[in-house]
Amino acid sequence: MIKATHEAVMVDEVLENLVFKQNGKYVDCTFGAGGHSHEILKKIDRKGFLTSIEKDERATKNLPIEFRDDSRFKLINDSFSNLRMFFEVEEIDGILIDLGISSTQLDDPLRGFSFQSNGPLDMRIDTTKGKTAAEWINSASNQEIADVLWSLGQERASRRIALKICEFREKKSIESTKELADLIVSCVYKKTKKHPATNSFRAIRMFINNEIEELQKVLEAASYVLCCGGRLAVISFHSMEDRIVKRFFQGKDRIESKVKFEYMKDKFFKPTAKEISINPRSRSAILRVAEKVC
Ligand SMILES: C[S@@+](CC[C@H](N)C(=O)[O-])C[C@H]1O[C@@H](n2cnc3c(N)ncnc32)[C@H](O)[C@@H]1O
Repeated sequence: MIKATHEAVMVDEVLENLVFKQNGKYVDCTFGAGGHSHEILKKIDRKGFLTSIEKDERATKNLPIEFRDDSRFKLINDSFSNLRMFFEVEEIDGILIDLGISSTQLDDPLRGFSFQSNGPLDMRIDTTKGKTAAEWINSASNQEIADVLWSLGQERASRRIALKICEFREKKSIESTKELADLIVSCVYKKTKKHPATNSFRAIRMFINNEIEELQKVLEAASYVLCCGGRLAVISFHSMEDRIVKRFFQGKDRIESKVKFEYMKDKFFKPTAKEISINPRSRSAILRVAEKVC
């Protein structure tokens, strides 16, 4: 497993609302550094079971002994959108999806997710397949780049950045996070507290990992594998993702599922001021938990 520097978000709220049966079967779709999985295992009893899923092979290697030795735990290295391949219909009591990437991944320059440190422009969660961000950015059309930056990053300078990228790569291909971040900085004139490359880097990461489609698929799959009264908890860090979750719970924008969900008592939870002061990266998190109604 990657060095465990990720701080799990809204742990109390997740446990309180998701883990309602101590002998239940749970799925943590985003194992990451294992923070939520660790807490779920602490709360369930001897008859309970937790399956965790993680797309990043590196996060599943060298699993700490506490997980390896626990007969109530199983880890699957796959994408959460394949949820239905692993479970029967109405088999699971609670499912957690903690979207995005972990601090461990973000802080590792070799993964290429961050504009804060220089490294190869990769950005793939699963490094064994698919195009790297560098491969995409050096081959996509001006229009395609602008569209991704606008639709997934709401980046106002999307066209200017896309043009700059295309002009730059005529001389030299873009290979590092610093090269890309510098190009973006030179196009964004309005100075705000947020780093000018924040939106573009997030948009490219979401595109490279197909994150919106993955989310739509896992919500749909979760609606089938949850038992009646089973609960689905989703933590998102971006308004676009949260909107998808909210609309899914409302029965809108579904692929084919007709399953009904009802919120617990609160429609959503936000981290407390105390949590934000301890873990500033939690500040944009929003948790929604809903129960399958049959
Ligand atoms: C925010 S982190 C989860 C952190 C975790 N809850 C913890 O407490 O350590 C999100 C994790 O989900 C993984 N991930 C992202 N997309 C995925 C997908 N489609 N399928 C499975 N895992 C995914 C990422 O690799 C990352 O490790």
